[in-house]
Amino acid sequence: MQKSEPKTILRQDYRAADWAIDRTSLHFELRAESTRVSGELTLRWQSPASPASRVLVLDGVGLKLQSLSIDGVVLDNDRYHAGAETLTVYDLPDSCVLRTEAIINPMANTALEGLYLSSGNFCTQCEAEGFRKITYYLDRPDVLSVFDVTIDAEQSRFPVLLSNGNQVSADSLPNGWHRVQWHDPHPKPCYLFALVAGELSVVQDAFTTASGRDVLLEIYVQSHNIDRCDYAMHSLKAAMAWDESIYGLEYDLDRFMIVAVDDFNMGAMENKGLNIFNSRYVLADQATATDADYLGVEAVIAHEYFHNWTGNRITCRDWFQLSLKEGLTVFRDQCFSSDRHSATVKRIEDVRILRASQFPEDAGPMAHPIRPDSYIEINNFYTRTVYEKGAEVIRMLHTLLGDEVWHSGMRVYVDRHDGSATTCDAFIDAMQSVTDTDLTQFRRWYSTAGTPTLEVAEHYDESASCYRLTISQSTPDTPGQSDKQPLHIPLVMGLLDSDGQPVPVTGYRTVGGLSENSFIVDVREETQTLVFENIDSPPIASLLRGFSAPVKLQQEIDDAALAFLMAHDTDQFNRWEAGQRLGARVILRLLSDAESDDSEGLQLLVGALQQVLDHDGLAPSFKAEVLTFPSLGTLADALQQVDYQHLNAKRRYVQGTLAQVLADKLEILVTRGRDPALQLLDPEAMGMRKLANVALDLLTCIPDSGWQKLAFDQYERADNMTDRLAALACLCHSDCHLRTDALDHFYAMARSDRLTLDKWFSVQAQARRAQIVDDVLNLRKHADYDAANPNRIRALVASFAMANPVGFHSPDGRGYQFLADEVIALNVSNPQVAARLVGPLTRWRQVYPAQQVMMKAALQSIQASGQLSPDVYELITKSLH
Ligand code: TRP
Ligand code: ZN
Repeated sequence: MQKSEPKTILRQDYRAADWAIDRTSLHFELRAESTRVSGELTLRWQSPASPASRVLVLDGVGLKLQSLSIDGVVLDNDRYHAGAETLTVYDLPDSCVLRTEAIINPMANTALEGLYLSSGNFCTQCEAEGFRKITYYLDRPDVLSVFDVTIDAEQSRFPVLLSNGNQVSADSLPNGWHRVQWHDPHPKPCYLFALVAGELSVVQDAFTTASGRDVLLEIYVQSHNIDRCDYAMHSLKAAMAWDESIYGLEYDLDRFMIVAVDDFNMGAMENKGLNIFNSRYVLADQATATDADYLGVEAVIAHEYFHNWTGNRITCRDWFQLSLKEGLTVFRDQCFSSDRHSATVKRIEDVRILRASQFPEDAGPMAHPIRPDSYIEINNFYTRTVYEKGAEVIRMLHTLLGDEVWHSGMRVYVDRHDGSATTCDAFIDAMQSVTDTDLTQFRRWYSTAGTPTLEVAEHYDESASCYRLTISQSTPDTPGQSDKQPLHIPLVMGLLDSDGQPVPVTGYRTVGGLSENSFIVDVREETQTLVFENIDSPPIASLLRGFSAPVKLQQEIDDAALAFLMAHDTDQFNRWEAGQRLGARVILRLLSDAESDDSEGLQLLVGALQQVLDHDGLAPSFKAEVLTFPSLGTLADALQQVDYQHLNAKRRYVQGTLAQVLADKLEILVTRGRDPALQLLDPEAMGMRKLANVALDLLTCIPDSGWQKLAFDQYERADNMTDRLAALACLCHSDCHLRTDALDHFYAMARSDRLTLDKWFSVQAQARRAQIVDDVLNLRKHADYDAANPNRIRALVASFAMANPVGFHSPDGRGYQFLADEVIALNVSNPQVAARLVGPLTRWRQVYPAQQVMMKAALQSIQASGQLSPDVYELITKSLH
């Protein structure tokens, strides 16, 4: 029922803009339902072509045009055409000042893109193409302009008026209005524009840069949240210092502002000098934030701050280059967090996310390269692939070049491109200029979709003391891409002898930053064989150390060798990885062979896990990771036609077996696994909590272990949200009165705080209960459910559809229809959020046939529901294809 099919945009169609906008002056008269926006664009024809008559086509969506003039002369009707999404002006001189005046309605803006209201305050979100909903403009990232912004608003209701850069004036106006003017000296694309107006309280601090510039730091929040900003401020200063000391990059304005808003489609936005955040990535205190929340605040604050260089000063030429800023900035924030906490645990967490979310995306109907070749709606390409796989590609470059060369490459990149909009190719060119390693083949990572598989077979020749590894790579076909060429894959590895000692190897490269006794193999061929001479006894190969490439490793290795690696690998990451592989193997064997109880594999696994738990030299946070089994999603990735109920049953059986053996130890961890002498956010304290809560979760796998009582005790005793929520999560799976008691108590406590109430919704949506679909439908009708608030929607709908596969894939198909109905409603009010929820339905090929039929029916019901937004249209069409 699409009126006109949305257009597909192709990367190869890129053309530079004909016009430059040297200056942009905006004037806002803020009114909730009728804001007047005047734009004054200083235009200059920059194309080498010299046509007889110059035409300008500006973007503009949902604007009520009031007037239009050129160099002060109002235009006649025949000089322009105002269409639904563009404003075309004919017959222009080669430089001029164009003035437009339009009315917009922020109050009616439920899509949260452009200028909108959140809790009564004005705010903006312009990336990727929201600026066109504010004023007529060349809404593309390669048009950089110097912005002057004047904001007029009612003084009493909107005392704080903010925009990018530096404040240049503040004045009173008649009738109780006031005016503030801002000037941003750094030319920027319009997607980095921001405006905030409202009643906000501010926390201030200061930072002095390495070269002595004093920067005022400000975090603006609603006044009731003023005491919850300390951690965000602390994180900001740490991020600023880190970027100076690691990359030599300093902040470049006198003022850096962060504003927290409750209604936000994504995590946060790096607008120049004025970052706007989803309040969940700013607000944190002991009573309401979990350890994971704190780490999230720290990572997102750093991420947005780091964009000031990788994104803002150097921006993207077009949206196909999105990974240029996002992949690089995710890599930078990962390194920052890794430097501040356990590097191994951080790497494990990131790899888990990649496997649980990016691998499935890369195997589904929306698979795309980190630099896509086409899109219908760019908002659909803010993906795990562009962000997280993009970061993996940057990480591989870092590994191939080594830390020192990497940093000299970054300096070349910054020097060459500061102040401009550029491409992924230009980034690799900069890296190529500092290394002899030929990066030609490496560039294929930017154009190849799908997760490559590395198959490794070994052969030991005793008489020749020779060990051989044969490595084959292949990347599966993905929509629109087949017969892929081999990639350049850095395989970091080491060999161990039977005592767990490193086997010395010559002839391979090592670089700074690898774990001890590791070396890099440049995998470039479809098949290649590594030959190791003078090897006296069959070694055990530890491959893909630190997860050196985003690939699936298929290694010929027996269970005993995996258990050996768990106990002895000198690479911490691979110790964890060996445990995950062994765990997955045991679960999947039980699944494929109903007859077998795989007692041998199970025993080996349990023994190995027990050893890790008992090992005094290992950090609690690491033990917690080892005891956390691969997620259902990750396990499902290795399967065709998954039955999630069945898979979950086997996974829990294995967890239960482990829990039985370790029950006493687990219980001690739960009851005594905290050190009260440690500060709340001491990494050691966080690690202990994580381990204790993994232990509690394992105990829930033993049917009659009395764990409900244990969980309830913890719930009541907890002096922090991590322990409280972990206990509540366990109770939520059960059916006893302790569950309702705890939930009621939590609700009473959470009512007054949105972020805490989100947790109340989310923890219930993730429960493993037979009646889960009804639970979710009831929560949907709860008075505190807010269908206009993305955080609340995610807390209920996304928690259920994405974090509760057992519930979502409920055999009666009601989980699918619930999701479809939510998507249909949101398609109208907030297409971006609607599209983000479609994901789980698009992967219908993964489940067994009876479920496939129901998932497709749900997708079709969305398709048939009426006029689809381009966002939802693209996902539905591509996944039903
Ligand atoms: N650039 C932001 C980031 O990664 C992402 C973002 C925030 C965004 N809001 C958005 C992307 C809205 C698309 C639409 O830091
Ligand atoms: Zn980003």
